[in-house]
Amino acid sequence: MEKREQLYEGKAKKVFATDEENAVIVSYKDDATAFDGAKKGTIVGKGVVNNKMSNFLMQILEKQGVKTHYVQELNDRETVVKKVEIVPLEVIIRNISAGSFARNYGVEEGIVFDEPTIEFSYKNDDLHDPLINAYHAVALKLATKDEINKIKEMAFKVNDVLKEYFLGLGVKLVDFKLEFGKTADGEIVLADEISPDTCRFWDKDTNEKLDKDRFRRDMGGVEDAYKEMMKRVFGE
Ligand code: TMP
Ligand code: ASP
Repeated sequence: MEKREQLYEGKAKKVFATDEENAVIVSYKDDATAFDGAKKGTIVGKGVVNNKMSNFLMQILEKQGVKTHYVQELNDRETVVKKVEIVPLEVIIRNISAGSFARNYGVEEGIVFDEPTIEFSYKNDDLHDPLINAYHAVALKLATKDEINKIKEMAFKVNDVLKEYFLGLGVKLVDFKLEFGKTADGEIVLADEISPDTCRFWDKDTNEKLDKDRFRRDMGGVEDAYKEMMKRVFGE
């Protein structure tokens, strides 16, 4: 497959056209941002970790019947994925209170929920990705009602699979953000990435944070946390 012109540069990834109409190449950067890009930095090696981890997790999910955009890993930072139209919703699943949930509702972090929760944010940096409900998303034609139902079902399935997988590695899957896309033939697939950038991972025994919160909160040990997650998933 031939890499062609750059189509898009986001905060953490670049996307390139290929000689195939329905395939693009994603290239993962070490750039890190938080708070709508207000905080900027570099996490050395992050692009490699996120590329490899995301591809590995998407293959696990495919085996469990979740359709994803994943096609083929090319090298440490680059992967061929299906070209999709991204549904402009951030889909957030939570198993344990943390982050904006704890802040918005005035509760401490670490409360284990009886059932996972789901929420949507409207992907729009100018509006600071506001929370949005399913009715509003349909009214704004961000997705159809059927697509939203499909996305919900897929997101909970992803949680069931990944929660158990990470627990086996001694990691609590606290919460995470997913994005979905629509392929040329109208199928909804899991897109974007699943990585320490987009998930909260806490060590099962110590609750040590092993994700991007170390960068967001200036906790130090950011690179080591990404490396530790890489080690848990792939071994030494
Ligand atoms: P939150 O508690 O800040 O709303 O974050 C929930 C989850 O979503 C957490 O695992 C981090 C992830 N996330 C992203 O991937 N991108 C974002 O822009 C934000 C705000 C959160
Ligand atoms: N990457 C996101 C941003 O820069 C936020 C985050 O992950 O906290 O807005």
